[in-house]
Amino acid sequence: MRVAIIGTGYVGLVSGACFADFGHDVICVDKDVSKIDALMRGEIPIYEPGLDALVAENVEAGRLSFTKDLGDAVKNAQAVFIAVGTPSRRGDGFADLSYVYAASEEIAAAIAGYTVVVTKSTVPVGTGSEVEAIIKRVNPDADFSVVSNPEFLREGAAIEDFKRPDRVVVGAEDERARNVMKELYRPLYLNETPILITNRSTSELIKYAGNAFLATKITFINEMADLCEHVGANVQEVARGIGLDGRIGSKFLHAGPGYGGSCFPKDTLALVRTAQSNGAPTKIVEAVVEVNDRRKRQMADRIIAACGGSVKGKTIGLLGLTFKPNTDDMRDSPSLAIVPALEEAGAVVRAFDPAGMGEAKEHLKNVVYCDGPYDALDGADAAVLLTEWDVFRALDFDRIKSLLNDPIFVDLRNVYDPGTVCTLGFDYHSIGRG
Ligand code: UGA
Repeated sequence: MRVAIIGTGYVGLVSGACFADFGHDVICVDKDVSKIDALMRGEIPIYEPGLDALVAENVEAGRLSFTKDLGDAVKNAQAVFIAVGTPSRRGDGFADLSYVYAASEEIAAAIAGYTVVVTKSTVPVGTGSEVEAIIKRVNPDADFSVVSNPEFLREGAAIEDFKRPDRVVVGAEDERARNVMKELYRPLYLNETPILITNRSTSELIKYAGNAFLATKITFINEMADLCEHVGANVQEVARGIGLDGRIGSKFLHAGPGYGGSCFPKDTLALVRTAQSNGAPTKIVEAVVEVNDRRKRQMADRIIAACGGSVKGKTIGLLGLTFKPNTDDMRDSPSLAIVPALEEAGAVVRAFDPAGMGEAKEHLKNVVYCDGPYDALDGADAAVLLTEWDVFRALDFDRIKSLLNDPIFVDLRNVYDPGTVCTLGFDYHSIGRG
């Protein structure tokens, strides 16, 4: 099947490469000339394990190509995916749909023959109908259907998530469109992936409800962690104890510094706004947004408390800057709240992150960026583990002790066993463990 993907950001590029790997003939389009030029040279603009090899193989096999010419790509395609950004709109938190609508107008003008236009971008309920109206207005003769097909890819595990998903959700209003979508995802039938076919609004809402539920789960366990600290309980055991109940499930119950990234913060806020404007407020999600925002700021207070109540004139060695491992994405990372708060309190921050430092430099200008974990801790008054990258999972604590002025270790991801680290002579602080 001939597929055009509009937008070569994270979602567009991963989806394009994976559809090509399924055997479809895929062309990825972007307005950003330098991005397309780079892709044509074989350079991948984002950090995602395995993506460079997947793109290279499929380009080599002639199934994947790149272009700046949207019209040309669309006119030959049977399915056109809109995978452009839907950032939070400044000021009100609604999803900004201007890129989606602009793409829809351009697609409309180029449609030739029956075409399924698919929204892959995360879009609020009702956006599919708006896209349909735009296409009809621009090109009244166009033969097309608009389908919602949300993505559930986690950064760092996106290829696996695309190829072996828990489910595929398709929101379509007519049989012709449903058949095209089934054909696109046919390779997944082999491993019996559930393909859930719904109407468009339901599919659009599933995406937001899924992310909001996961964000709620994380926020819930984070609050339990705080309670654990007051009552001498262990949050990891609480998580295991409740997670073994099949109705609850053990995933997304890791307490930490608060969720970040390009999806949860933006999507929870957009859901809150959509719900409010439809007269059906989601009080739980509103609380999640508020609690999570506060939590990120509170992490700086924890670090300050671990340093004896003041970090004025002190140096903090920070391990990890990205919102999670295996990504270079800094969007809404807890570090963006923690680092400025530490600096405001008079600290100097030395940091190392395996992939995020390039982007971090744009936002955190005063940080001293280091060559590795031990370099970041050299001469620091405390170590803070913020992102659970693999390279931070087996640190040499004797070496760290010799580098730090004070053996203070704040583990915001509960990577280490408190007993072991304390035995090594550290003043060790973690999340929700007594
Ligand atoms: C998330 C969803 O997991 C994907 O299913 C979805 O497709 C994607 O958003 C999206 O809407 O595009 P992602 O943002 O890549 O994926 O990252 P997650 O692995 O979900 O982690 C999000 C945040 O929650 C991170 O800051 C992570 O550290 C935090 N988290 C996650 C916890 O604090 N505890 C957990 O138990 C799990």
